This record gives sequence, C-alpha cells and structure tokens, in this order.
Amino acid sequence: MYLNHKNRANKKEKSNNDKLLEKRQQSLEGGGKKKVENQHKKGKLTARERVELLVDENSFVEIDSFVTHQNTKFNLENNKPLGDGVITGHATIAEKQVFVYSQDFTVFGGSLGRAQATKICKVMDLAITTGNPIIGILDSGGARIQEGVASLAGYGDIFFRNTQASGVIPQVSVILGPCAGGAVYSPALTDFVLMNKENSFMFVTGPEVVEAVTGEEISFYDLGGSSVHGSKTGVSHLVGENEEKTLDLARKLLSYLPSNNLNDPPFNPDIVEETDQLLLRELMPEMENEPYDMKRIIETIFDSDSFLELNEDWAKNIIIGFARIQGLTAGIIANQPLFLGGAIDYNAADKASRFIRFCDSFNIPILTFVDVPGFLPGVKQEHEGIIRHGAKLLFAYSEATIPKISVIVRKAYGGAYIVMSSKHLGTDFNLAWPSAEIAVMGAEGACRILYKNKLKEEENPETVLEEFTNEFKEEFANPYQAAELGYVDKVIFPEETRSEIIASLLLLQNKREQSPRRKHGISPV
Ligand code: HXC
Repeated sequence: MYLNHKNRANKKEKSNNDKLLEKRQQSLEGGGKKKVENQHKKGKLTARERVELLVDENSFVEIDSFVTHQNTKFNLENNKPLGDGVITGHATIAEKQVFVYSQDFTVFGGSLGRAQATKICKVMDLAITTGNPIIGILDSGGARIQEGVASLAGYGDIFFRNTQASGVIPQVSVILGPCAGGAVYSPALTDFVLMNKENSFMFVTGPEVVEAVTGEEISFYDLGGSSVHGSKTGVSHLVGENEEKTLDLARKLLSYLPSNNLNDPPFNPDIVEETDQLLLRELMPEMENEPYDMKRIIETIFDSDSFLELNEDWAKNIIIGFARIQGLTAGIIANQPLFLGGAIDYNAADKASRFIRFCDSFNIPILTFVDVPGFLPGVKQEHEGIIRHGAKLLFAYSEATIPKISVIVRKAYGGAYIVMSSKHLGTDFNLAWPSAEIAVMGAEGACRILYKNKLKEEENPETVLEEFTNEFKEEFANPYQAAELGYVDKVIFPEETRSEIIASLLLLQNKREQSPRRKHGISPV
C-alpha cells in the first residue's frame, strides 16, 4: 500500500516535471523553426539571440515566459504561442542591473496585443520601482490587428509608463526591425534610440499608405531607415553597422549612465589615458574664420577614446555626447565650426536642449565648448521657428542645476554668446582661451554698421574699414572685457583646460541648487 502510494507520487512528480520542461521548451521555440529560419534569412537575429548579445553572459533571467493571449477570434484560440511575441526579464550589463524586453518577430510578426503589452508594462514597472534602466529591443508589425482596441490600449499603457519613467531611470530603445504606426511613439518618448543600418525602419504611416494618400512612391529604407533618422530627423541617436554592433553601442551607452536619477554617474578611474595637452595650441587655426574640427579639441582634452558622440550625422553644427575626464563622466556640448561655421540653427537648438535636460535629470555635469558666430540667419530659419527652438536651449541651460562649465575657445557673439552656457544662465565656471572673441557681433560686421556714413565719404572705404576693424578687434574681440566684468572667471592657456576642468568638477561634486517651488516649468516646445 505504502509502495503504491509512493509510486503514484513519483509518477505525478515526473509528469509535473515533464510538463514544466515541455512548457519551457515550447516557450523557447517562439514562432517555430520555420519562422526562426525566415528571421535568419532576412539577416536578423531572434529576440533571444539579441538579448544574449546585449547582456552579460548567463545573466538574463526571464519572467512571464508562459504568458499567452486570451483572444478567441480569428481562430486564435488554437494558436497560443507561449510568451506572446516578447521576451522580458532582467539581467546585468557590465555588472549593472537592467530590465529588458525584446520583441519576437517570429510570433505574429512581433505585433503587440494585450498580453504582450502587459508583459512589457510589468518590466517597466519593475525598472521604475527598483531604479534600474530599461532597454527595449523592437522588431514588430505594430498593433496586433486581431485584438483591435485592446492592442491600442496596450500601447497607451506603455506610453504612459515611458512618460512616468522619464527623468527617473534611463530608457533605451534599440530598433532592429520594423517599428510602425503609433508604435514609434514609445521609442520617441525614451531617452535614446539606436538603429541598425540595414534592417531598422520607423514610420508613422508606411510606404503603401503614403502612396495611397499622397501619390509619393518611396521605399521602406528611404521613408524611415537609419540614414533618414540618423541624419534628417534626429530620431536616432546612434546607428550601428549591424545588429551586433548596434547592441554593443547600447552596452557602451549604458556605461556612462547612472542607474537612476538619485545615483551619481559611473566613475571609472582605471582607464585614464591623457593626450599631450600642448597639441591644443596647434589645433586652433591662426585665422579667425578658418574652420577646424572641434571634435579633435574634445578628444584631446578628455580621456583617450572616451568620447561617445550622439546624433553624429544630424545637426552637425553642434556636437553632443558623453566623455570621461580623469574617469569622471561628463556631457559635452560644442559648436562645430566645420558645419555652418558653428552657427546655431533650429535643429542644433533642439539637439542640444534635449541632451541638456537628460544630463540634468541624471546628475551628469555639462561641459560646453563655445565657438559660435550667432544664430543661423535666413528666411527658412525664421519661418521654421528659430525663435521657438532657440528658446528651448536658453530654457534648458537656465533650468539645469547640475554642475555647468563652459570654455570659450574662439567666437562667442551676440545672443549665441548668452545661450551657450554663459555666466548669465547660471553656469558655475566660465573659462576662456586667449583666442576668445566675446562681442555683440563680428568685428567687420560691427564696423560696417557703426561707420556706415563715414565709410561712404571715404575714397578708399575697404582700407579704412580694415583699420576700423583692427581697432575694434583690439578693443572688443578678446576675452578681457568679459573677464573684467566677471562674466569669464578665468582666461587660461589651452593646455590648462583639462586640469582646470578636473579641478572644477571635483569642486562642484557636492553642488546643491534649489529651483523655485512649482509643478514644472513650461519649456517652449
Ligand atoms: C498581426 C501581424 C501584424 C500585425 C505582421 N503580422 N504585422 N499580425 N498584427 N500588426 C504578421 C503577418 O500576418 C505574418 O504572419 C507575420 O506577422 C510576418 O509578417 P510578414 O508581413 O510576412 O513579414 P514582412 O514581409 O517582413 O513584413 C513586416 C511588416 C508587415 C512590414 C511589419 O507585416 C506589415 O506591414 N505589417 C503591418 C504593419 C502595420 O500596418 N501595423 C499596424 C500599424 S498601426 P504569418 O502568420 O503569415 O507569418 C499601429 C497602431 C498603433 O500600430 C497605435 C498606437 C498608438
């Protein structure tokens, strides 16, 4: 009797274990062998392979792998793949805890229904309450058509959480396939969007709808591929050559970010390598209008190979990115004289202001390198709203309470002088090189206005203009008037910049600044 009972118990245990093993196996299969083969044929990895590449080896812990949809329409009660088209869980990246979701295109084209949305929301909620970054890997046909409004509701729930998480935990979206329709708004609400050169597409309405409505014929790639979002719209911050490299970029990006808004950014003193700082003197050209590559200045001042540029191909007249200096993380903003002479246009203003707000939320000091002739003139700029866009930049700098340091390396003219992290917007330390020219406008332009009538009377106006211009430069095109007024704290030699920045950052480490109490400011979006 006792033995019979024991046998029965053993059998039950075996069948229970088999059932679990079977379910686990089923959930690992996603949409099945054929669909996985199709995915590989398209040059794409599966959702699981992507997670494995993204996170530290063997660190991924999956949850909700048995979740299925509850749809009984369209004969779907007979097609209930475990996991419902998304893999969710937690893992570490360079030993930092993160939450991850990865859409599985082999299951209903990765489309999002109620069950998938609930899984994604669960890891988002966990990420918010535990204060850890969330990374989404997107590869999906959008709202699951068979589920109607339930799938739209799912997107709404995700957008709401994206907004709640904003400024609390870093949110990263890696697009490795289609991301169509309203689905694009989740990545658009996150802090960083990464795309893969070949297989990523983002658009609100696809090529077929565009053709039907406007008659325009366009390919997926030309409508919403990585080159469009990397260089035209600015939606994509980083573009990888292939899936592996795109996921590598996501890992790299995470290495600069704190886990949440209450933590300090990572400090990494082990990998400090310093470039010869005297090189800086050679990088700055003799002639005042000669272009040079501001990136070389950044790369020389900061720890070797530590600069990660964002939005590299969009609004190239301004540079943004993360770097380290003596292991300390910093957010960099710099005018780029190689493009539009470094003038600020509406895209540059948008690019920099969003970055400032990210750094401010996550305790990352902002270092600004200034060489700006002004706002870009032109009918297009005025009519596209340079007033509104430029105001965002003023707002972002003024609102930011993290340590702010600026270095004027050459021009700082007019309104652009004020905007680019001037003392007047609450910058903690304003430094300037001897080559700095801080003035209302360029010397020649100023003299043409000041001496307009006088020049008309001259026999040789161009020679006289040159004399006036030289006098003007002597008087105003230097950092010393600003230094006399205390708007520049210190005029330094270029080779002193690195050590000045390190000393200032250390001094500002415990900076505390209170803004007036209010619900929130109204950024001129
Ligand atoms: C249900 C979908 C689906 C969807 C794809 N599938 N999209 N199932 N709902 N939205 C299924 C297909 O039926 C197919 O199933 C499988 O996924 C693979 O799709 P294919 O078309 O064979 O793949 P491919 O040729 O690579 O094309 C991928 C695609 C295309 C470009 C994404 O599937 C597509 O255009 N899908 C529809 C995109 C779309 O319009 N979505 C709705 C957007 S509106 P089988 O069983 O045949 O393998 C939206 C609103 C959100 O998202 C609003 C939020 C506010």
